[in-house]
Amino acid sequence: MNTRSVLVTYASRFGSTQEVAEAIAAALREAGIEVDIQPIQEAQRLDGYDAVVLGAALYNARWHPDAHQFLAKHQAVLKQRPVAIFALGPLGTGDGAMRGSRRQLDKELAKYPWLKPAALEMFAGKYDPTKPGLGSFYRLLPTRDYRDWEAIRAWAKALPAQLERAEKQLA
Ligand SMILES: Cc1cc2nc3c(=O)[nH]c(=O)nc-3n(C[C@H](O)[C@H](O)[C@H](O)COP(=O)(O)O)c2cc1C
Repeated sequence: MNTRSVLVTYASRFGSTQEVAEAIAAALREAGIEVDIQPIQEAQRLDGYDAVVLGAALYNARWHPDAHQFLAKHQAVLKQRPVAIFALGPLGTGDGAMRGSRRQLDKELAKYPWLKPAALEMFAGKYDPTKPGLGSFYRLLPTRDYRDWEAIRAWAKALPAQLERAEKQLA
C-alpha cells in the first residue's frame, strides 16, 4: 500500500461537516492509514501527506469560502496528490434535493479544471436553527439531522483503494 498518510481537512460553520470528517478519519485509521485531521484554516503544509481528503459544506449554493481559498492556495501540491472531496448540503434525503446540491457543488468545482478528484461525494447535512448567525427565516425551520452515517462510512471504506488508484495514475 502506497497511501500511508492522509490529511483529512474540513470547512465547517456549525460542526456537522467536522463530525463527518472525524468519521472518515476514523475509518481510514481502521484501514491502517496514518491520518491527521485539521480544520482547513490550520492545514498549512501538505507535502508530508500521500493524499488529501477535503470536506466542506454548501451555503446559499456556494461551497464554504475556506475550501475555495484552500484549493487556490495549495493548487501546486494538490495537483501532485490524490484528492478526495466530499460536501455536505441537502437538508433532505430525496433525489431532487441531492441532485440540486450536487449541481451546486459541480458548478463550484468547475472553477478548478486542474482538480481531478479521486473520489467525490455529496452527503446530506444537518440543520440546527438555534445556531447563532442565522437569519429570521432560517430560525423558524425545525432541527434536522439527515446525515447518513452508513453512506459516510461506506464511502470512507472505499477510499483507500481509490486513493491508491489515483496515486498510481499520478506516478
Ligand atoms: C443558511 C444556510 C444556507 C444553506 N444553503 C445550502 C445550499 O445552498 N445548498 C445546500 O446543499 N445546502 C445548504 N445548506 C445546508 C448546509 O450545507 C448543511 O446544514 C450542512 O450540514 C452545514 O454544515 P456545517 O454544520 O459543517 O456548517 C444551508 C444551510 C444553512 C444554515
